[in-house]
Amino acid sequence: MISKSEMIPKREMNGLEMMEEGKGVTMKTAANDNPLGVFDSGVGGVSVLRWIRRQLPREDLIYVSDAGYAPYGNRSPHYVEERAVYLTRFLLEHRVKAVVVACNTATVTSIARLRSLFPVPFIGIEPGVKPALAATANGIVGVLATTETLKSSSFHNLIHRFCKGARVEVQGCPGLMEQVEAMAFTTPKTRALLDRYLTPLLEKGADTIVLGCTHYPFLAPLIREMAGEGIRIIDTGEAVSRQVCRALSARGLLTSREGPGAAAFWTSGSPTVETVLSSLWGESVTVGRMP
Ligand code: DGL
Repeated sequence: MISKSEMIPKREMNGLEMMEEGKGVTMKTAANDNPLGVFDSGVGGVSVLRWIRRQLPREDLIYVSDAGYAPYGNRSPHYVEERAVYLTRFLLEHRVKAVVVACNTATVTSIARLRSLFPVPFIGIEPGVKPALAATANGIVGVLATTETLKSSSFHNLIHRFCKGARVEVQGCPGLMEQVEAMAFTTPKTRALLDRYLTPLLEKGADTIVLGCTHYPFLAPLIREMAGEGIRIIDTGEAVSRQVCRALSARGLLTSREGPGAAAFWTSGSPTVETVLSSLWGESVTVGRMP
């Protein structure tokens, strides 16, 4: 059994560390100074976390990579839902004031259940079909996403709601998230996989490609190179960060503290992810191992 003080990487979360050490003392910090929780099956959600940091520089952030149970994209909705519930409980133990589900697969399969179980705001991410339909010139949009996202009823509803007269072509991308986890952004294997997934969409005439998985923005430069300059690439990470800001602000949950917020990282996978997370986050981070 891991003790509470062990559960928080101290260097990263000073505000929380003080609260943990004050055992038996009533928590003085108002909920709005509590951290914001963010999770994904792996490092992909860092593509969203970076936008959140830009949008909300003073917030403390806790990021969880569920790499020990990834990928989510080829698992059953039940499996992903159970993981999402577990990760949310973990984040709530760290007193998060809201949870960002920085994973399309977990959002489409689990966000309704999370909202029904837990009393904090949840902000999710779904493939950017709507902005893609607004951006396309020829009315043909291609979506790259996990198989599970594409199968989900939420995704089908999304298309049904917004796709009036336009065409949405979809492509599941098994194996692609693993390449991002390995930081293999431009290797021959990644190129071959992307070629296999991108080419059919381009051949069907798509002039706009939706990055429907939070891992794929890290492959955007390669996608741009392979698809050509004329193709629009839609990443919804920035829009999600604006939504996070609106959701916190509407509930009076924006932090009142001055100065830059901290960021703490946790993983259910190998601690070697520290190198990858540090590189994607842009500064050296310590990664805690989840129980
Ligand atoms: N990053 C995740 C998403 O946005 C899923 C990757 C995976 O675990 O398959 O869907």
